[in-house]
Amino acid sequence: MSDHVFPRSFASPPLTAVAAEGSFIFDNQGKRYLDASGGAAVSCLGHSHPKVVEVIREQIGRLDYAHTGFFTNSAQEALADDIMAHAPANMARAFFVSGGSEAIESAIKMARQYWLEKGEPDRTRIIARRQSYHGNTLGALAVGGNAARRAPYAPLLSDAMSHIAPCYPYRDRGDGESEAEYGLRVANELETEIQRLGPGNVAAFVAEPVVGATLGSQPAVPGYFQRIRQICDAHGVLLIADEVMSGMGRCGTLYAMEHEGVAADLIVMAKGLGGGMQPIGCLLASQGVVEAYVDGSGAFTHGHTYMGHPVGCAAAVAVQQVLREEGLIDHVYNNGPKLEALLQERFGNHAHVGDIRGRGYFWSLEFVADRTSKSVFDPKEKRHARLGQEGLARGLICYPMGGTINGIQGDHVSLAPPYNASNRELELAVSLLGEAVDATFS
Ligand SMILES: Cc1ncc(COP(=O)(O)O)c(C=O)c1O
Repeated sequence: MSDHVFPRSFASPPLTAVAAEGSFIFDNQGKRYLDASGGAAVSCLGHSHPKVVEVIREQIGRLDYAHTGFFTNSAQEALADDIMAHAPANMARAFFVSGGSEAIESAIKMARQYWLEKGEPDRTRIIARRQSYHGNTLGALAVGGNAARRAPYAPLLSDAMSHIAPCYPYRDRGDGESEAEYGLRVANELETEIQRLGPGNVAAFVAEPVVGATLGSQPAVPGYFQRIRQICDAHGVLLIADEVMSGMGRCGTLYAMEHEGVAADLIVMAKGLGGGMQPIGCLLASQGVVEAYVDGSGAFTHGHTYMGHPVGCAAAVAVQQVLREEGLIDHVYNNGPKLEALLQERFGNHAHVGDIRGRGYFWSLEFVADRTSKSVFDPKEKRHARLGQEGLARGLICYPMGGTINGIQGDHVSLAPPYNASNRELELAVSLLGEAVDATFS
């Protein structure tokens, strides 16, 4: 690695990727890695899908960039039309940026300005959940509940954000408490927090429909989001769905919220939108939000240099077309149980796997020292990091993480394979993960 790159970690320099195709990445030693997590649940079509590559080539040769302060462009228009043709019925317009954090920042600001447009300037508070992740820029980090990532920057994080409990039944559901009772109890924390802050002061509630990396592909229990929606409606609070990781087909439906039967007011997406072939994020605004702006000041006081970038938008249109042409989201829906079954078969009786959870092509294992007591490994041992290394040694890319329970304790690993991965590749992923897990925990 060049001495001139500022890496993520000086302690553990990364491998060098030189090529990628389908479900595999190749390093500069010629070693092959099965990308069973799509990096961080990004590469929904695997790598370098030829149709998307062709569209990117064509777009960049025709129109590379035109600042959105002066111009719109046909790729942005096409992507907005395409997205709106398949979006939840209450959605009206799309705002394109360069990634998930930018899209979350945009959502927070759009919610805040919405209340200014509506003449309720006191609505400045944003509520989110502990053990969530919404991005690494300061606004997104402040909204998020990833304790480890927040810690170094705590003095810089806005106190306009506060947090309620996640929906995490494996550890938090009480003995004798039904799933429905548990879901209601934790959803009602939103009501309590709104009352504490004063309903007229709360702008929005933000949540991942399926919590991604921080908690390990954790869906909510049935009824949870319906109760959340009721509470938001009762107090006029906007509901922001962060679908950056869980959306765009990852959980077997285009939007992760479809599973919950609940409509958000703002939807944020990124990873699977461009499948990693271009950096792109998107914020969808509902008709009600759009009308407030149109009837109000008429302009969103926000923007970025690369928003609505033609190449990113063209790539995303191509990704969405391939997903439809190849029936890949239905495939994830129908074949997700196959991935679950493979994991159950390999890890269902594993002494150190306490929970197997997920949806679609987004599954995680939560590790325990003891299954009965659910005790965890000493965080100092950093088992999750070792698991990542054991995976790489075997040619497997998975997505391990520590701090599952509270930012410090607990270890889990996630898989998020490409939607077009073959069943043999899924089997290989689970088999290699099994070897890596045994080497790490046994
Ligand atoms: C749910 C969620 N929101 C936001 C983000 C931030 O996205 P990005 O890394 O593209 O800025 C992520 C990234 O992992 C995420 O998983």
